[in-house]
Amino acid sequence: MVAYDPAAIREQFPFFIKHPGCVYLDNAATTQRLGSAVDRMVGFYYDENSNVHRGVYDLSERATLAYEAARGTVADYLHARCAEEIIFTGGTTDALNTVAAGLDGEICTGDEILVTAMEHHSNILPWKALADRRGAKLNIAGLTPTGELDMEDFLKKFSTRTKIVAVAHVSNVLGTINPIKYITKLARTVGALTVIDGAQWLPSGPINVQDLDCDFYAFSAHKIFGPMGVGVLYGRREILEKLAPFRLGGGMVQKVTAEEVIYRGLPDRLEGGTPNVASAVAIPAVIEFLKSVNWAQYRSHERKIRSIIERGMEKIPGLQLLGTAPEKVGIYAFSHRTVHAHDLASMLACQNICVRAGNHCAQLLLPHFQTSQSLRASFTLYNTVDEAAALMKALAKCVCQMS
Ligand SMILES: Cc1ncc(COP(=O)(O)O)c(C=O)c1O
Repeated sequence: MVAYDPAAIREQFPFFIKHPGCVYLDNAATTQRLGSAVDRMVGFYYDENSNVHRGVYDLSERATLAYEAARGTVADYLHARCAEEIIFTGGTTDALNTVAAGLDGEICTGDEILVTAMEHHSNILPWKALADRRGAKLNIAGLTPTGELDMEDFLKKFSTRTKIVAVAHVSNVLGTINPIKYITKLARTVGALTVIDGAQWLPSGPINVQDLDCDFYAFSAHKIFGPMGVGVLYGRREILEKLAPFRLGGGMVQKVTAEEVIYRGLPDRLEGGTPNVASAVAIPAVIEFLKSVNWAQYRSHERKIRSIIERGMEKIPGLQLLGTAPEKVGIYAFSHRTVHAHDLASMLACQNICVRAGNHCAQLLLPHFQTSQSLRASFTLYNTVDEAAALMKALAKCVCQMS
């Protein structure tokens, strides 16, 4: 494993070679693309382009082999028990909707679903719709002032009626890392299923779904330097086998008559329609890259960035950092007493600093911090300490001009 070096990592991203002056700090929304993943995708379109699972000609067989090999690589990286536990989806949102729709028959009146106030809308809306359809209750666990899960409130809302616990591994606004192993252990005591939204953890560290002991785990390739439009749903095999298919159509069915439909086995039964093959076959390139990262050294780089942010904030009156948990990744959301986040983001954009402003698809969260909007700077593997310093210097100047 090579020593962690953001400058060397940057060289693997064509975007930064073409746009060296861009301070890209919107990685929680989407990351830049790894050159080797783009090359693999283009290579597929140039040399292997055909649909999977259906052709008997060489080209289609090669596409199928590459697609299934990608599934195997993802399974190994996640430490799944077998490749059938990996379902390719359109992304995290699609994966979470697949689970929520598939569990329809398992939820009845009086059942409860537990989520947290720091969830992305993608991990709330499917559960709210499921609860509404089935007459179940959606419980929302609150947060502490530091932006951690309020475990007292979580336990108050957790009971033998809880059938599903859906939690983000990492908050996309606060960067807080949630205690997933504790939550899955607790859920087991009442037989509740656990659904973990891993969209923001995958770019931050290694993953072992067996160690986490979760039932489902979802993520998107575009947040780990891979292509848009593809993601992964990991599910425990015996539960995936019972999950009702949500996307009905070609490729997922074994027999169709007017009277009877027999679905195929895993993973096909949950992958109806033509999959995003070119994007899926690029995922192994991303995984090879993630496996080369020295995560311990990256953690210390993250700490350096955090200290630059925190020291910079001391010089900016009225600026509040939402989320100060000791265990967090490099996602920083700020709100200012008088200056609107959109104004700050526009001013930063004029200095070629890309950040996001708004509610970050997490509208349950912001009221906990008495605000309706915030400015979010999200750092990842290729961001440097100089970029953190540039952000804080520019932010201080913008606030000074606006207030
Ligand atoms: C924590 C979290 N969950 C889910 C999503 C949705 O991901 P996608 O839009 O790739 O489906 C996001 C995207 O920002 C996210 O940050």
